[in-house]
Amino acid sequence: MMAAEAVDLADLERGAEAALPASVWDFVAGGSTREAVCSNRTGLDAVHVIPRVLTGAAAVSTRAPLPGGWAQAPLAVAPMAYQCLMHPEGEVEAAQAAKEHGIPFSVSTLTSRSLGDIAATDADLWFQLYWVGSDRRVRELVEHAQEVGCRALVITVDVPVMARRPRDIRNGFRLPPSVRAVLLDEAFGEAHRQGSGSAVARHTNGLFHPALTWDHVRKVREWCDMPIVVKGILDPRDAVLAADHGADAVVVSNHGGRQFGAGPPASARIGPIADAVGERCRILFDSGVRSGADILRALALGASGVLIGRPVLWGLAVGGREGVTRVLDLLQTELAEALVLAGCSSPGDAGDLDVEVGS
Ligand code: FNR
Repeated sequence: MMAAEAVDLADLERGAEAALPASVWDFVAGGSTREAVCSNRTGLDAVHVIPRVLTGAAAVSTRAPLPGGWAQAPLAVAPMAYQCLMHPEGEVEAAQAAKEHGIPFSVSTLTSRSLGDIAATDADLWFQLYWVGSDRRVRELVEHAQEVGCRALVITVDVPVMARRPRDIRNGFRLPPSVRAVLLDEAFGEAHRQGSGSAVARHTNGLFHPALTWDHVRKVREWCDMPIVVKGILDPRDAVLAADHGADAVVVSNHGGRQFGAGPPASARIGPIADAVGERCRILFDSGVRSGADILRALALGASGVLIGRPVLWGLAVGGREGVTRVLDLLQTELAEALVLAGCSSPGDAGDLDVEVGS
């Protein structure tokens, strides 16, 4: 399919499934349990936003403040590993599309392109941190991110271990030789290619710190000046602790249903977390966002922006930079429409809308 023909993100999802090898498709689409992935959709579908009328809101601006500065929309690309699995240029093409749209692009610690190559696109970058190795090594990564001009540091806190992902285990999923985590030691990746089950899980579990604490967040706060975003929060008490430790934002997220599998849909946690932290830190959301209406739902629940996960990979698989551009175009157009239909003239207005959560 041609990315430009896509009328909604579901078209690109079908296009990506047709374009990718089955095991790569499963790596992207899968989760820790089938239920965790599906419940994010069920949760968002149950959020009914009540529109206002006669507000005179015709000229909608989608511009919104995010960690690190203003963006053209309350959107950022979520950190996602190994984007060269989708397209030979991987993260570079996805970042070019984010740059065109004036929204931030998050670079994963498991990026398959170098920070220098991605920074050369001139996109607004956020760097996502996993605790890979010694404190010294992690500090070097943080400083490298700051040197190339990253505007925010996202610490992902919901991966003490990589959850069992049945599709990857069945497929014995491993990275092809052409794709690797370029910020990490090459020999380490090689050592985990051998054996049965998911080589990606073996690699991750051999490398990630299994027992992070808030003390690690405090260390990062001391190592850099970038705004800190703590990603993977579902309990309001943790959101309050994040604010106590100097976080500028939290991402309410269940990692797209790829990690803890027995929880609620992530969208159900936005309201309680917004109530608990008030103005102390910004609230972002991801896990299941597939349309502008979903973005409006998250804003109405109390988020100030959302991260886009799998749809960006669908766009990359279908058409590289153009495919990701189509994804972001559709989301921005749909959001502008949803805002005006709800009587809002900006994303900030959406926080005043009423919400009914049904089933
Ligand atoms: C991810 N995600 C992720 N998160 C993170 O903090 N660091 C990472 O390296 C990755 N890698 C990754 C790879 C792939 C293939 C996927 C699909 C996801 C999680 C991601 O940032 C985000 O939380 C979810 O993707 C959001 O859910 P949706 O929008 O994909 O449903």
